[in-house]
Amino acid sequence: LAPKPLLGQRVVVTAGPTFEAIDPVRGITNHSSGKMGFAIARAAREAGAEVTLVAGPVHLPTPRGVQRIDVQSARDMHAAAVDEALSADIFIATAAVADWRPAQEADQKIKKDGSGEVPQLAFVENPDILADIAHSARAQSGALYCVGFAAESENLEANAQAKRVRKGVPLLVANIGPATFGKDDNALLLVDDEGVTELPHASKRVLAQQLVAEIARRVGGEMA
Ligand code: C5P
Repeated sequence: LAPKPLLGQRVVVTAGPTFEAIDPVRGITNHSSGKMGFAIARAAREAGAEVTLVAGPVHLPTPRGVQRIDVQSARDMHAAAVDEALSADIFIATAAVADWRPAQEADQKIKKDGSGEVPQLAFVENPDILADIAHSARAQSGALYCVGFAAESENLEANAQAKRVRKGVPLLVANIGPATFGKDDNALLLVDDEGVTELPHASKRVLAQQLVAEIARRVGGEMA
């Protein structure tokens, strides 16, 4: 029988990119594939948790037994994640959320009128989903355990520790090495108040299982 260290736990995962509309036919997004977040949702489900996956626009099948909420913008993802986190035990933020969105979304397609004039885009900052949830009453009381991700390219450990403190989360997971967007494998550095744990290079599926086991240990779940 497979171990179920997260039996009875409710887990919320954000995954994928966000899409920030410019007008009804255009927008700004990024190359996040959602693979890591989907693998984590699957691993958490297999560990016995009740899992909700808040997913930006990705082309991935929903893991078996996982409840999925599809969203587009950072603000949609924020609203869905905050709502789900109200009753969750564990929140894992893997989404590559757009830092900024166009200040205005045009009601109609912006037209090229032949004058050679180009539209000027102004931006406003998006809400920080992870920081907001980590600072919520539920997380502050210890009822909700929050996990963040970081894609740093230098001074991995120091930057990850700084981000962990800034976001107010007990555990921050840094991607090791070059961009992992779209790839099927990765390596992870787990940073918490005890120090650093490395999960060496492996498939995202295996890393997700190892990460879920590490999280279960930290929230007091028993590994069989
Ligand atoms: O600040 P930075 O974007 O590097 O932080 C990355 C972490 O914060 C990831 O866990 C990401 O999912 C989360 N995040 C978020 N909302 C944002 C920006 C980042 O939840 N607006």
